Amino acid sequence: MQPVLAFDVYGTLIDTQGVTVELERRLTDASKAGEFARRWRDKQLEYSFRHGLMGAYVPFSECTREALVFIDRALQTGLSDNDQDHLMAVYGELPAFDDVVPALDQLRDAGIRCVAFSNGTADAVSKLLTRAGVESHMDDVISADEVKRFKPDPAVYTHLRSRLETRPEQTWLLSSNPFDVIGATHAGLRSAWIRRSSDAPFDPWGIEPDMTVTDLEALAERIIR
Ligand code: LAC
Repeated sequence: MQPVLAFDVYGTLIDTQGVTVELERRLTDASKAGEFARRWRDKQLEYSFRHGLMGAYVPFSECTREALVFIDRALQTGLSDNDQDHLMAVYGELPAFDDVVPALDQLRDAGIRCVAFSNGTADAVSKLLTRAGVESHMDDVISADEVKRFKPDPAVYTHLRSRLETRPEQTWLLSSNPFDVIGATHAGLRSAWIRRSSDAPFDPWGIEPDMTVTDLEALAERIIR
């Protein structure tokens, strides 16, 4: 049975490092940029989990903005409204990793369906992927927003399968985010962890991915072989 591949977006297809570069420009103390970017991402995810648990869904970009305001307060960096608007705009225009388009082309040439699958709204993700030159290399964009829940809620992975009309064992989630890999595996899908950084740890939950690779070209080779 031919696999169908669902790619997480932020950190997997799209390189969020550009946010750190912009923070270095905007923060009075540029040495805080790395910590700011890391905590912003962590808080964004925490807010998506909390909104989900509370049954108080908001679009993912709201979690991103709320997290930005929180980290500005926590680190007392005094960003102006204009700085915050600008950083949010940068978040919507980040580039893809270099391996994304070659890997997608290889996979689709081999007849494998590839979709983007994100907590971001379909509109936000389509715009982001179009700017990054990836949208035309994908078969579809599927968003958690369509069920007003966030990954790793099992309902979101069930929604993915119902949109794809696939069986669990042929449906693959590819992500650099361990929480997403574990969520998909828990929901019965196949999963690959894209371990883009060699020192990235995986959660010790006893739930392991079917495959771990360093980038998407390595993934394409393993899947097509
Ligand atoms: C996404 C985030 C969670 O794209 O990486 O779904």
